[in-house]
Amino acid sequence: MSRFVTVARLADVPDSGLLEVEIEGRPVVLARVDGQIHALDGICSHAEARLAEGSLYEECLMCPVHGGEFDARTGEAITLPAMEPIGVHEVEVEGDEIRVALRS
Ligand code: FES
Repeated sequence: MSRFVTVARLADVPDSGLLEVEIEGRPVVLARVDGQIHALDGICSHAEARLAEGSLYEECLMCPVHGGEFDARTGEAITLPAMEPIGVHEVEVEGDEIRVALRS
């Protein structure tokens, strides 16, 4: 069962930007794509880099270490060396609060 927790305010996530938050001890990266907030695992599936230290261009979330890219909407790996997807989590926005429920 999903449990939503408030993790940030909308103003905390820059346009076309990233923000790392922690939920239940897990790093989660928030990404704003076309005004929509997405929540993904905060650690790269390739070699454990922190994705919030990377960059976001349109929907492409680029890892800061080896440049692997992920689709910030789906978690799909789209450029080598990233091959495995990263998890995506449920997001809801209530007023100016971003709430996230972890998917396992
Ligand atoms: S650690 Fe992310 S692509 Fe290598």
